[in-house]
Amino acid sequence: MAVAEVSQRKKAEAGRAVAEAPVGLIRRAQLSVGLLRNFAYDALRFWHHSYLLGATRRQHLAARILADAHFLEYGMALSDAQPGFGRARAVRLARDLSRYAPQAGEDVTVTTGLGVLEAYLAFNAPVPEGLGPIRDAMAGLKARGAEEVQTGVETVRRAQVQAAAKVDFLEFVRARHSVRSFVPGPRPDEEIRRAVLAAREVPSSCNRQTCHVHAYTDPDLLNRVRKLQAGNRTFGHQLSGILVVTSDLGRWETIGERYQPWIDGGLFAMTLAYALHAEGLGTCMLNWSVERQQDRKLRKLMGLDDSRLVVVLIGIGWMPEEFSVCASQRLPVSEILSLNQRLDG
Ligand SMILES: Cc1cc2nc3c(=O)[nH]c(=O)nc-3n(C[C@H](O)[C@H](O)[C@H](O)COP(=O)(O)O)c2cc1C
Repeated sequence: MAVAEVSQRKKAEAGRAVAEAPVGLIRRAQLSVGLLRNFAYDALRFWHHSYLLGATRRQHLAARILADAHFLEYGMALSDAQPGFGRARAVRLARDLSRYAPQAGEDVTVTTGLGVLEAYLAFNAPVPEGLGPIRDAMAGLKARGAEEVQTGVETVRRAQVQAAAKVDFLEFVRARHSVRSFVPGPRPDEEIRRAVLAAREVPSSCNRQTCHVHAYTDPDLLNRVRKLQAGNRTFGHQLSGILVVTSDLGRWETIGERYQPWIDGGLFAMTLAYALHAEGLGTCMLNWSVERQQDRKLRKLMGLDDSRLVVVLIGIGWMPEEFSVCASQRLPVSEILSLNQRLDG
């Protein structure tokens, strides 16, 4: 095949390699070693940055403060809430706050931790044996709290929840497509801010909120970032923004949580994509399913701390009046849902 023909073909595949020949022995060995090295890359980063071996860094303490605060709120919100529930967590929370807060300045983590401890002490009043030191620790920390935050337990009414949730969700999700044609428009900075405000509401493991959005709408920055992602090659030049969603490895603790950054990151990214859809923007998820060398390139370009794991990128832009999208037929519900399947165990 002529070189021109091959390059033409490559272009038609949007830069994606298409495997044709059966994989030979040497290639199989190379792929296997490559896979192991990439597993090692992920595992070492988790090992190095998480607080699996102890909460020694500030981001570890911040994560544990939010997780313990969550645990106490959870205990108080139970329908048969038990006084004294979570005592060990409350003690640890007060201790962590004493270590974390003195350097914190204005910090929502501190206000959240303190607010929950206050609610916890009120819930358990009079202050039970062993919790006195919490009071003392809190007295010294109070002045450092940041803005007003909502902590403890709140009462909501079913009618209110259901009224607010009464949207035609099926219509909303069916109107979203992966958009790959865009027209020029204003920088969508305000839309991104509002979408992130909405995406914050996504559930996160123990409310640790490990995700961050690195948004690029400046054309020069956007171009440099997008060039490292293969899946936008055919339309990336039309984008008005590119968002890089990351999760902080320093906020994960246990071995079982080793894949949680991708899980929480995925949930966050999809909520963000829906929020952008609600803002009238077209979006296209851009995979970051890359090998370590490529990952390092992007992190270097962005100056991203090694503790931040890139989950996915999202391309955003203004939609034309009329444009084509993939029909992307979905599989039938019967193939996706198993309802009350027989249990073998
Ligand atoms: C994690 C993830 C990564 C994706 N990466 C790309 C990408 O790099 N380029 C692209 O054009 N589409 C990408 N997509 C879009 C999918 O191809 C698309 O969601 C799917 O075909 C269904 O089409 P729809 O989104 O229009 O419903 C990605 C989707 C997901 C969820």
